Amino acid sequence: MRSRIVWIRMPSTELINQIHAGDCVAGMASIPAGTVDLVFADPPFNIGYQYDVYEDSLETDDYLRWSENWIRGVHRVLKDDGAFWLAIGDEYAAELKVLSQRIGFSCRSWVIWYYTFGVHCKYKFTRSHAHIFHFVKDPENFTFNADDPKLRVPSARQLVYNDKRANSKGRMPDDTWILRPQDLPSGFSADEDVWYFPRVAGTFKERAGFHGCQMPEQLLGRIIRSSSNDDEIVLDPFSGSGTTAAVAKKLGRQYITFDMSQEYVKLASERLQNIAVGDPLVGSADPLRSVPSTAAGKRKKKTPKQKVADQRKVARSVGLQMSLEFRTAGEAELESLVVDAFRDTHAGFSVDRVLLDPAMSERFVNECRTAGCEANEHELRRQLAQLRFVGTLTAEDLQPSEPTIVATETLQRYRYASEIAWRTIADRYPTWTLDDLLLDPEILCQFDTVARQVAPNCDTFTLRWGTLKLRQLAAAVLAQAEVHQGRTGQNGAKRGRAGQGGKKTKKAKSLLHGIDEVAADTIEWDDDQEHLAGIYTIESTDGAILYVGESLNLPVRMRDHFAANESIDFWTTLAGGTPRVRMHLDKTDASQSEQERLLPWHRELLMREDSACNLVNLWTPVDNA
Ligand SMILES: C[S@@+](CC[C@H](N)C(=O)[O-])C[C@H]1O[C@@H](n2cnc3c(N)ncnc32)[C@H](O)[C@@H]1O
Repeated sequence: MRSRIVWIRMPSTELINQIHAGDCVAGMASIPAGTVDLVFADPPFNIGYQYDVYEDSLETDDYLRWSENWIRGVHRVLKDDGAFWLAIGDEYAAELKVLSQRIGFSCRSWVIWYYTFGVHCKYKFTRSHAHIFHFVKDPENFTFNADDPKLRVPSARQLVYNDKRANSKGRMPDDTWILRPQDLPSGFSADEDVWYFPRVAGTFKERAGFHGCQMPEQLLGRIIRSSSNDDEIVLDPFSGSGTTAAVAKKLGRQYITFDMSQEYVKLASERLQNIAVGDPLVGSADPLRSVPSTAAGKRKKKTPKQKVADQRKVARSVGLQMSLEFRTAGEAELESLVVDAFRDTHAGFSVDRVLLDPAMSERFVNECRTAGCEANEHELRRQLAQLRFVGTLTAEDLQPSEPTIVATETLQRYRYASEIAWRTIADRYPTWTLDDLLLDPEILCQFDTVARQVAPNCDTFTLRWGTLKLRQLAAAVLAQAEVHQGRTGQNGAKRGRAGQGGKKTKKAKSLLHGIDEVAADTIEWDDDQEHLAGIYTIESTDGAILYVGESLNLPVRMRDHFAANESIDFWTTLAGGTPRVRMHLDKTDASQSEQERLLPWHRELLMREDSACNLVNLWTPVDNA
């Protein structure tokens, strides 16, 4: 009997299980027609997103023409029973749906993917969804693995009613996909016009990678499981960070993917190298049961082995591979714990807010502890600041989306206390920068004590926050001093060192009690008159006001300041000559309410065109930025 040979058309082996650099239209043209089982496409949405090489802002007609080209390519390579899943934003969802149907696809489901880490919008509702279309070539013949237990979710009968008649296998998910349903207060049903208010940062660790549009693995898992079988071929024309290939590989499928960016292809290929068939998908498979809500969330303490395994998993999926080689496993582990703790506790606020807000810092440190981290609080805070500094916290759910608002009036009212406390602590630790001081919890405690002594009515956070504002102002003053230098040239008066004697003089005495003006380099100070709260100006030699503000011991500080060579150099070469210090109001004994009444007067001075605000950086040479 003659045997019959059936030829199965397959893409060439060079194409399979690779992420290819290049244009997907050309790439798909090299795949034989009718050979792919499933296509997942997450194309650029034409919304001006910043990719490294692709320009995401085509004219509408050009975008639609280009979309038609690649969707035709998808249609050609798909098998007759194949499926095409398309993820797209609001802007072109309608157009691409119609286009795909015209090309020959039938729409099975219009899925809404609801997510909880949208980019915060000021003047419209923050977007929290994307559209995902499930198309098939033949509506009578397609793969849909409805019985796969990994696809099914617990039913209301199981969860809410504890009904014995419930199908123990659960049910298929709705077409609104919520990958963090545990963050919804009491479920989300199709017949409710419920708006969900609290915005919760997502827990998709894998989103912290090199590609801002990275899809969660669990989402791809659902698509690949439902529309393909073991060993079948999954194609993604727009690979990005390589999520489709990563999930296809984990689930034992073959894959072909393209991306026009060489860099993304390189990093995604590295991601793939660390993945093996059978590896679990990142993220919770059953978030309702296995992951607590963000509010209630507390991690189980992990064993060291689990922690290292997790750290590897995170490193693989967040694209930290390049820098990882230069760190020890312990450092990398600490880093990933700190990133996780920040993600879970920052509630959309900045790193500065978490570090300076006592309640938030406590939550952050507790979260690190719960995750099994043994580093001390100072180390944890330093690590967080360092991660921000080196640009590790760029993922969407780590970025600040909530502004920290402290009324300008409040900041102005208590700025003097922040300054006094900063100055006092800086004097104790003369070589430390402001960041060094704020990151050390013990020193921060000293700061709080001094600041609260001076401004007992003000809360700790505002007083701490005030130092950052002062630093900003100081930078502005420095910039102004540079402009000033342009105006006056560099011929400032040459001065000797001032005020080192501690001898009482008439001039010093009159300054201390509200005299009009004194050149700083002529002042000699009285050692027992150390605590001089008042409103001061510092003026340049041509009368421009460089600083105006409430301060303690400003004359004393100016004396110290002029004792340093750097200061002399600064004033004589950059700022156009040694300044004058004037005390406008002595308020050492003023009560809080009296100080508040001073404010309008203070503000008048501030409004003067030639006023800048604070020179604190100028007398703190180590923190001169
Ligand atoms: C929205 S992202 C895909 C993200 C991906 N789903 C993930 O999970 O990381 C779109 C990607 O398409 C790539 N791209 C744009 N035009 C392309 C083209 N003509 N051929 C191949 N890739 C292209 C971009 O470089 C970008 O990485």
